[in-house]
Amino acid sequence: MTATLPAETSSRSARTARIPVAVLGATGSVGQRFVQLLEHHPWFRLHEVVASERSAGKRYADAADWRLDTLLPKDAAALTVKNLGSELESRLLFSGLDASVAGDAEEHYASRGCAVVSNSKNHRMGADVPLLLPEINADHLGAIERQRARRGGGYIVTNSNCSTMGLALAIAPIERRWGIDQLHVTTMQAVSGAGWNGVTSLAILDNVIPYISGEEEKIEIEPRKILGAWDGERFVYAPMRISAQTNRVPTIDGHLMTISLAVRGDVPTIDDVKDALRSFKGVPQELELPSAPRQPIHVLDEPDRPQPRLDRDRERGMAVSVGRIRPCNLLHIRMVALVHNTIRGAAGAALLNAELLEAKGLL
Ligand SMILES: NC(=O)c1ccc[n+]([C@@H]2O[C@H](COP(=O)([O-])OP(=O)(O)OC[C@H]3O[C@@H](n4cnc5c(N)ncnc54)[C@H](OP(=O)(O)O)[C@@H]3O)[C@@H](O)[C@H]2O)c1
Repeated sequence: MTATLPAETSSRSARTARIPVAVLGATGSVGQRFVQLLEHHPWFRLHEVVASERSAGKRYADAADWRLDTLLPKDAAALTVKNLGSELESRLLFSGLDASVAGDAEEHYASRGCAVVSNSKNHRMGADVPLLLPEINADHLGAIERQRARRGGGYIVTNSNCSTMGLALAIAPIERRWGIDQLHVTTMQAVSGAGWNGVTSLAILDNVIPYISGEEEKIEIEPRKILGAWDGERFVYAPMRISAQTNRVPTIDGHLMTISLAVRGDVPTIDDVKDALRSFKGVPQELELPSAPRQPIHVLDEPDRPQPRLDRDRERGMAVSVGRIRPCNLLHIRMVALVHNTIRGAAGAALLNAELLEAKGLL
């Protein structure tokens, strides 16, 4: 990893004090990315770190086995880890909690008036919880009013599964312009996606594991919510059919996936598809949010790209790369996409979501 930190600051940052935030699950794989990305964030300041009772009471430097290739930020190192469930001073919480505890904990803090911006799967399919991907569905924030009404002010927004993130961004311009009828995706997912203790080296080195528990189900439903509509009352899912096959492979970061799809109407030319992907932009680019990539989708013309090691860090890990766009013998179009799973697929996505909330006056 070279440069993952939000490089562009906006005039907004000069005017306002940074908002204090807490990271739930701060010691984990996604939690450490949050700590890293927050170090120089122009709008948010890391104020509290929260983890399990195994870590609570320790200095963050002692509790977190820091494994990122930038130095552990000094201010974060000195924070004392709080136990999950404790009273927090921050009103904006980022969650990288293990799914076994995320559901109740996020609910707990939202019901105490906090804005919880989560990576975990637990609330993603909630009837009034935005599954936010700001380039695609910033208008889904309309659902927050519903949550606030029932929760007394607090709310939860989530980002998608890490592979879903790459898939949804890569196909959004095609869905918007031509409509997608059916889609098949096969993923090759990096080991960091399983968390620090997820896959042992002896299990994955010299190997591919053709099963990731619960992953295919998420990839088959989440894009339909993301690409669907909020009609003011409920989410209306995009009608496409998706079939997913997921594999764990011995790369460290970056989920690669091959995609074949059939459109609903007239079949576009390959050049039209490339143009649609290259010119795709959304609300984060219009608002120049600090974590927004200038170009969310990088279209690569080289025959052997994208590749995880070479392409995952584009635009500080926030851009999705798409290559090998070509006709499909069975469906209409096929292509290869790559997403940095712990940045665009997790912590970076949550930061972008929170930036959108701030820009829309929802914090
Ligand atoms: N890794 C990815 O690429 C990725 C992408 C998208 C979404 N996600 C989701 O993000 C979440 C975190 O994933 P991860 O890969 O960062 O996992 P991880 O490395 O295993 O970290 C889990 C975090 O949860 C905390 N935790 C575990 N059990 C707890 C308990 N009983 N009470 C309080 N805290 C507890 C851990 O604290 P201790 O250190 O104190 O145990 C740690 O901070 C998961 O829900 C995952 O599905 C991950």
